[in-house]
Amino acid sequence: MTVKIRVENLSKIFGRNPKAVLKKLEIGITKEEILKKTGNAVGVNNVSFEVNEGEIFVVMGLSGSGKSTLIRCLNLLNKPTAGKIFFEGEDIVKYNKKQLRELRQNKIAMVFQHFGLFSHRTVEDNAAYGLEVKGVEKEERLRIAREILETVGLAGWGKKMPHQLSGGMQQRVGLARALANNPDILLMDEPFSALDPLIRREMQLELLDIQDTVQKTIVFITHDVNEAFKIGDRVAVMKNGEIVQIGTPEEILSNPANEYIEDFIKDIDRSKVKQAKHVMFKPSPLILHKDGLKFAAKEMETQGISSIFVVDRGRKLQGIITIDDTIKAIKKGEKLEDIIQQDFFTIDTETYIQDLLPMAIETKFPIAVVNDTNKLEGIIVRASVLSGLV
Ligand SMILES: Nc1ncnc2c1ncn2[C@@H]1O[C@H](COP(=O)(O)OP(=O)(O)O)[C@@H](O)[C@H]1O
Ligand SMILES: [Mg+2]
Repeated sequence: MTVKIRVENLSKIFGRNPKAVLKKLEIGITKEEILKKTGNAVGVNNVSFEVNEGEIFVVMGLSGSGKSTLIRCLNLLNKPTAGKIFFEGEDIVKYNKKQLRELRQNKIAMVFQHFGLFSHRTVEDNAAYGLEVKGVEKEERLRIAREILETVGLAGWGKKMPHQLSGGMQQRVGLARALANNPDILLMDEPFSALDPLIRREMQLELLDIQDTVQKTIVFITHDVNEAFKIGDRVAVMKNGEIVQIGTPEEILSNPANEYIEDFIKDIDRSKVKQAKHVMFKPSPLILHKDGLKFAAKEMETQGISSIFVVDRGRKLQGIITIDDTIKAIKKGEKLEDIIQQDFFTIDTETYIQDLLPMAIETKFPIAVVNDTNKLEGIIVRASVLSGLV
C-alpha cells in the first residue's frame, strides 16, 4: 500500500494569536475553556493520520467536531496553525501561491454539501468549469465533461440547467465537476447530507461503483455513522478537534477505543457492516461427487438437513442436491448428475449481510460463500439471515 496523504500533528486555531493557544492546548487546557477565556475556536487539535492511495478514508464526527476544518486544511483553504501535510512525500503547507494553484487545479478537487454549482451555467459547463479555468479549449473540455457526466449517470443531461435537476442529480454534477480535472485526491465534505435518505443511500452505492472505475484517493466527511461504515475503507472518528480512533469499520466495531466510540456505534445497523465471512459456517457436511447418492442420503438423514452441497476434491462447488430428489433417484436408479441443481445463490466472503436479505427470502437453499476460483469457503443458513441472528 502506498501512502498518498500523511498528516502530522496538524492543528488549526481560529482567532487572534493562535500560536499562544497551541501552548495552552499542550498543557491540557480544554477547547471550551480556551473559547471562554480567549475567544479562540479550536478547529483541529494535533491530528495525525495517513491516507492510502485508492482508499476511501472517512472522517466522522458530530457537528462542530472539526471535520470541515480538517478537510479544508488538506487543500489549504484553511492555513494550518501547526503541523505538516504531505502529498506523495511533499509538504504542501510550505507551497507558494503558484504551487498551490497547480495543486488545486491538477491534483485535488473538492465536493461540497450544498453542491456549489453555478446556477446560470448548464450542467456540462458546470462539469467543465475546472477545465475552463485551466485553459482547456472548449471542444475538448466539453468532450471530457460529457464523458464524466456519463460516468456519474447523467448522460444526456448536459444541456439542462442545475435547477432542472433533483438534489441527487445536482450532486452528481458536483462530483462530475470534481472528477473532470482527473485529480488524484477527492475531498468530499458531507456530500450527501443534504439529500433525502433514499437518494442518499443510492448515492452512497453509486459512489462505491464510481470509485471502482476511477480509483481515486478519497477523504469523505460525514456525521452519519451508518454512512461512514458503509463507504469507508477506514474511518477516523473526531471529537473536539481530535481524532479519537482510526480503523476499519470492523476494527472499530469489535474494538471501540472508549465509551465515546461505543456510544457512537450503538445505533449502527450491524447488517451493513458485517460481511459474509463474519457469519458463515464451516462448509460441512458436504459430499464429493464420487460419494454417490446413498451416502448423500445417509449424510442428510444423520445431520437432519434437507439439502447438501456437492463439491469436487479441491472443494470446488459443483451444485446441490435435496433429500427428496435423492431418495426418488435411488428408487429409480438415477445418478447424482440427474438431480444435481444449480439453483442457489453464491456470494463472496466480502458480501454485506444486508445484501443477503433478498436472497434469503427468495431461495430455499443455504447461501454458498465461494472464493474467485469457486472453492466453497462457507455456508450461510437462510433462516439466520431472515431472523436477523447474524
Ligand atoms: N472560520 C471560522 N472561524 C472561527 N471558528 C471556526 C471557523 N470555522 C470553524 N470554526 C470552529 O471550529 C470548530 C469546528 O468546526 P467545523 O470544522 O466546521 O466542524 P464540523 O465540520 O465537524 O461540523 C467549531 O467550534 C467551529 O465553530
Ligand atoms: Mg462541517
